Amino acid sequence: MELKDVAVLITGGGSGLGEATARAMAAKGARIGVIDQNKDNAEKVAAEVKGVGLHADVTSEEQIKAAIAKAEATHGVARVLMNCAGIGGSQRIVGRDGVYPLEKFARIINVNLIGTFNCLRLFAERLVTIEPVGEERGVIINTASVAAYEGQIGQIAYSASKGGVVGLTLPAARDLASQKIRVNTIAPGLFFTPLLMSLSEEARKSLGAQVPHPSRLGDAKEYGSLAVHIVENPMLNGETIRLDGAIRMAPR
Ligand SMILES: NC(=O)c1ccc[n+]([C@@H]2O[C@H](COP(=O)([O-])OP(=O)(O)OC[C@H]3O[C@@H](n4cnc5c(N)ncnc54)[C@H](O)[C@@H]3O)[C@@H](O)[C@H]2O)c1
Repeated sequence: MELKDVAVLITGGGSGLGEATARAMAAKGARIGVIDQNKDNAEKVAAEVKGVGLHADVTSEEQIKAAIAKAEATHGVARVLMNCAGIGGSQRIVGRDGVYPLEKFARIINVNLIGTFNCLRLFAERLVTIEPVGEERGVIINTASVAAYEGQIGQIAYSASKGGVVGLTLPAARDLASQKIRVNTIAPGLFFTPLLMSLSEEARKSLGAQVPHPSRLGDAKEYGSLAVHIVENPMLNGETIRLDGAIRMAPR
């Protein structure tokens, strides 16, 4: 599907990988709706890409419905959804701080997995109301992580949430195939985003050195360019693509 003049919704679009995707898709002529729970960042990125800033929490049915409606009023019904909103959080099952709190586990699953599904379903509900363009109606791209496959010590909740995103990709693609909507997921390795900016230069270099080739942290632009390619290539469907320079994370 061509991105020119197509309405796109990007969750977590106020920062990092979502922000880079907003810029990459805007450069292709798409109309961008930037959804983020950080209102200032949503509006800042939206202003830069001449899009609409939408303040919403991906876990809320009401807020996501309202955000979709607001974007639609300016751009029309969106044909592309990019799920980038996500949170981390590291703790051992039993460690120095005691047992892993159940609420913390539930929170990470709620944002990363249930939030992804919430946006996917509400986006699809609106998309099926418009006609396909040629052989396609639209595209959904989710964000997992290599932690879906090689979760490290302390990543129990994060890995479970991202494993869930990988798991829903094929059934979502099968469910929505009759509506001509494709669903794919990107599983990034280590990317240089605000998530990692708090680390020292030395810590960043050491993380980058773990990547076989190219031996560095990924640039968010490389994520954005894969997202653009997924939208443009109609045969990509039901797949999770690792974008990781061949890294396979060690236990710690
Ligand atoms: N950076 C990496 O190396 C890396 C690696 C693997 C996977 N990922 C995944 O990529 C995605 C983007 O990560 P990033 O590095 O760009 O992080 P980031 O923190 O820079 O951006 C995430 C954005 O999501 C927003 N967000 C968080 N919870 C939200 C919620 N409930 N509702 C709406 N917005 C919410 C935040 O406000 C933020 O703007 C995440 O899902 C992350 O797990 C990142």
